[in-house]
Amino acid sequence: MISIECLKVIYQRQFGDLEDFEAYFSPGRVNLIGEHLDYNGGHVLPFAIDLGITAIFVPHSTNVLHVFSEDFNEMFQVNLDLLNHGNIISNWASFVLACLKIMKSRRIPMRGGNIVIQSDLPIASGLSSSAAIECLILYMMAPEVYDRDRLSLAIDAQRAEVEEVGVKCGIMDQYAIAFGKENCAILLNCLQLKHEYVPLDLKDYQLVVMNTNFPRNLIDSKYNERKSECERALQEIQSLEPVSHLAQAHVISVGVIEDDLLYYRAKHVVTEEQRVLAAFDALNLGRIDYLGNLLWQSHQSLDEDYEVAGDALNCLIHYAHKFRGCIGARMTGAGFGGCAIAIVDKSLVNRFCTYVGRKYETDQNRKADFYLVKPVDGVSRIK
Ligand code: GLA
Repeated sequence: MISIECLKVIYQRQFGDLEDFEAYFSPGRVNLIGEHLDYNGGHVLPFAIDLGITAIFVPHSTNVLHVFSEDFNEMFQVNLDLLNHGNIISNWASFVLACLKIMKSRRIPMRGGNIVIQSDLPIASGLSSSAAIECLILYMMAPEVYDRDRLSLAIDAQRAEVEEVGVKCGIMDQYAIAFGKENCAILLNCLQLKHEYVPLDLKDYQLVVMNTNFPRNLIDSKYNERKSECERALQEIQSLEPVSHLAQAHVISVGVIEDDLLYYRAKHVVTEEQRVLAAFDALNLGRIDYLGNLLWQSHQSLDEDYEVAGDALNCLIHYAHKFRGCIGARMTGAGFGGCAIAIVDKSLVNRFCTYVGRKYETDQNRKADFYLVKPVDGVSRIK
């Protein structure tokens, strides 16, 4: 987490004196397993992580909001009555504006003032930096409203992204950031929007996040393409089985799909749904070896059947697999670059990062980054 002291200095540089202020932290997320299931009505198993966006907010009784991003060295200014586009230069500011518009449409009062934000979450790398800023802005604007209604927080943040930014994402990321809990993963039923927590106790193993640092071009169009392929696969299955969402289809029903491509997309979805529920059981039973196995299987399915992995992610997984102390690894998030996770023997973590890092650099001509993360609470005010 970025230190508050650091943000205070930035605040003073941008806005002058600082006396009373509010501080907030909004985490990123890792998905342990259950990829591309949220928009198919399945289960997912994410958790909020201790990398995220930290903010200082000094509310004023005006209708103008200034938000300064230290990472982009940019100031975004908006009149809360008009919500005009103002000086949007980068994506981050369009997420801010999108959230304000959703709040306005729900008639939730907003607060003017000065905000400074800084992130230690790698941006646009598959750890949900966009959902982190969405949840942060909504929460800071109306902490009393969203603290007691975290489901609305997740839904409004997702609406901001879908309706205002135009990415047809599911709800997993925003939900994980709204409902994160220290030391726990969240088994989320994306259809009913209900969850249960399970302690993420990996015993002698450490969860390692590996960043491909591969630019995620085309990700939005590929994502939307997968979504519509799933809709078409569902239509075919519905001729045999009356299910409303693809993740609920029986494995056998997938066999009716004639089109090869749609068959493989659907196969990923129904088998991944089974793997998520098995992973939840494995965690509850402390069977980390079994969990690791499910991670390998998930990656293979995402690569071969769903085709969202790509060379950079596959390279990381290939070398993770070769390393003896690693018992499971897979890509996490939408794919097409971004991050992967690995479960590694605690005593071998440094060797693992050195080995995979070197091999990756030689093969891909690019450096990978490694982070050791842990599950934390969802977006909240820092006391
Ligand atoms: C992105 C989306 C999520 C989810 C994942 C894939 O992170 O924002 O809604 O669909 O991809 O599991």
